[in-house]
Amino acid sequence: DWTTGNVIEEQVAEIRSRVGDKRAICGLSGGVDSAVAAALVARAIGDQLTCVYVDHGLMRKGETEQVEKDFVAATGVKLVVVDAEERFLTALKGVSDPEEKRKIIGREFIRVFEQAQAEIIADEGPAVEFLVQGTLYPDVVESGGGTGTANIKSHHNVGGLPEDLEFKLIEPLRKLFKDEVRMVGQELGLPEEIVQRQPFPGPGLGIRIVGEVTKERLDLLRDADAIAREELTLAGLDRDIWQCPVVLLADVRSVGVQGDGRTYGHPIVLRPVSSEDAMTADWSRLPYEVLAKISTRITNEVADVNRVVLDVTSKPPGTIEWE
Ligand code: XMP
Repeated sequence: DWTTGNVIEEQVAEIRSRVGDKRAICGLSGGVDSAVAAALVARAIGDQLTCVYVDHGLMRKGETEQVEKDFVAATGVKLVVVDAEERFLTALKGVSDPEEKRKIIGREFIRVFEQAQAEIIADEGPAVEFLVQGTLYPDVVESGGGTGTANIKSHHNVGGLPEDLEFKLIEPLRKLFKDEVRMVGQELGLPEEIVQRQPFPGPGLGIRIVGEVTKERLDLLRDADAIAREELTLAGLDRDIWQCPVVLLADVRSVGVQGDGRTYGHPIVLRPVSSEDAMTADWSRLPYEVLAKISTRITNEVADVNRVVLDVTSKPPGTIEWE
């Protein structure tokens, strides 16, 4: 019967015999699924696996470091980190439209990934025949179901690669649900911060800045987001909420008073939601003291932010993310 130990043993054996002495690559997104898939394949074939992480500069505070250090430390995996911040910021320059941002980020991501992969393939090692993907059972069902839900936002899935890539796929999580993937990850020794991670969109903070994405705005949002996350964790609320996007209304300003001066700064929106599957969601009734603490800290510690507002909209009619 089903145990994480059995799943791991079975997959490791199967992957080993399939891959033989060839090599595999895997794109890491910082999310749970790709991390667990990579850890599982690494357990099977060690350094015949190379992971690629594209740092688009739109990650939250500490996330890239988490992949670079914690993930590597826990798995011993061979990791190539591509610093593509400048490339993404240049491509996003002057763009405010949400769909346009999503398309640019998706496109650049694939270009960078393909370039990195071409470099890996070009070395003199054994052939790279396999691509590892963190596809879960619900992903398989959804893409095969074909009931065609309306396309509301173009989801940029970090695993999603062009069809003309000629790789054989390794998808060791194809039969698992999210909670089972978390258990497998834990059993493989991945740190709690990776295994219990809440959902985070592929386009990252790029779709949490309403307005143009710039380095300054990203840094500001990273600071505000880090405070919100820290306080939610301290209050023990991480498991109660599905996720809490923190959004910068970069094109909005309001008047405030701080110290003894007038300010004219930006609002930060807190969007804590509870949900089962992200298809529908309700706004989380967070304790007032926690909200007060987050608000006080953000306005005190983050320059240019003089107002914190709470999003009390369910989904529908609001989506979870603002863009
Ligand atoms: P929405 O905003 O559509 O979000 O209510 C539903 C869930 O999906 C996440 N999300 C994404 N995840 N790539 C992803 O991998 C994306 O482009 C993307 N857009 C939204 C969002 O955080 C929420 O959990």
